[in-house]
Amino acid sequence: EKGGYDYFMLKEIAEQPKAVADTLLGRIDLAGNLCLDEVRIPASVLREVSKVVIVACGTAYHAGMIAKYAIEHWTRIPCETELASEFRYRDPILDQRTLVIAISQSGETMDTLMALRHAREQGAKVLAICNTNGSTIPRESDAVLYTHAGPEVAVASTKAFLTQLVACYLVALYLGQVRGTKWGDEILSVIRELSEIATQVDEVLETMEPVRELARSLASKNTVLFLGRHVGFPVALEGALKLKELAYMHAEGFAAGELKHGPIALIEQDVPVVVVVPSPRGRSVLHDKIVSNIQEIRARGARTIVIAERGDEAVAPYADHLIEIPVTPTLLQPLVATVPLQVFACELATARGNEVDQPRNLAKSVTVE
Ligand code: F6R
Repeated sequence: EKGGYDYFMLKEIAEQPKAVADTLLGRIDLAGNLCLDEVRIPASVLREVSKVVIVACGTAYHAGMIAKYAIEHWTRIPCETELASEFRYRDPILDQRTLVIAISQSGETMDTLMALRHAREQGAKVLAICNTNGSTIPRESDAVLYTHAGPEVAVASTKAFLTQLVACYLVALYLGQVRGTKWGDEILSVIRELSEIATQVDEVLETMEPVRELARSLASKNTVLFLGRHVGFPVALEGALKLKELAYMHAEGFAAGELKHGPIALIEQDVPVVVVVPSPRGRSVLHDKIVSNIQEIRARGARTIVIAERGDEAVAPYADHLIEIPVTPTLLQPLVATVPLQVFACELATARGNEVDQPRNLAKSVTVE
């Protein structure tokens, strides 16, 4: 049932191109427009939305953090992403014009469920992004957009995460389309680029041997740090989470802009730091800032593991290890940048003799608080 792989996690990592393609299937028409009729929230309601609030836990929360950048950029609707466990015990301000998006692979996570109940009691509309048909969260929501990742067995989420991202981009673009924002042309071109992503994830998967080798060489380290900016920041958090849960190593993700506000004190000789570098095209300020962050940490002895767009010559000289990923629009980069981090964590777990599919103390579905 593991289809020739040693672990479900490896199988699920390999299934990502198909999972991404399946999640897009039937949702883009021949003219390149989104058709999300299955989202039974009428366009008239979506046009009136004044605020989006995303609630989720763990890896799904990281997908939600990335969605915030996309939603605010393409729709100009204010968007907040919050841990479901924090949201439900606050006194959040919601009304009929608030769209709450609950993201959950299992559809059974207690905190996410309680958060959506809380939102509905206050009159907000709830859209679930979920991978499990007929589970509790979609049943209790006003609408659902299913991810088509297929069953995810390994405790650590991989293909579900990528498809959650795809679903979030679809919702963001759809909101933009329905509301006719000034980004119309960009929306059409991003929809086209999304259709290329499955192939690009496949390309990434074919070049992972050096990443596995690198992971094995770090098996005796105590700490790995992760840095990113913009959508690369949640990717850094996700890379750190994968490493904690699978390799049982101390791992932390930071927003690169925060380095000087504390984390740079952690940099010492030979500490591995994974840096997610935004595309040098487009928002080039972001790129330049991170290149100087890399120089700063390297000058203090860090061993830099750099994930950068193919052909990014400005960053290459500062990378002790360079992991190249395909050229994508900035907002879509997490779909290709996360994959090496999954492979990295999985290989480190194996090298440290850990049980990859069933990490200690963790359950696949967290139905208690
Ligand atoms: C990490 C992981 C967890 C889940 C979290 C939410 O690899 O799998 O952090 O993402 O427990 O689960 P769902 O998406 O089922 O609500």
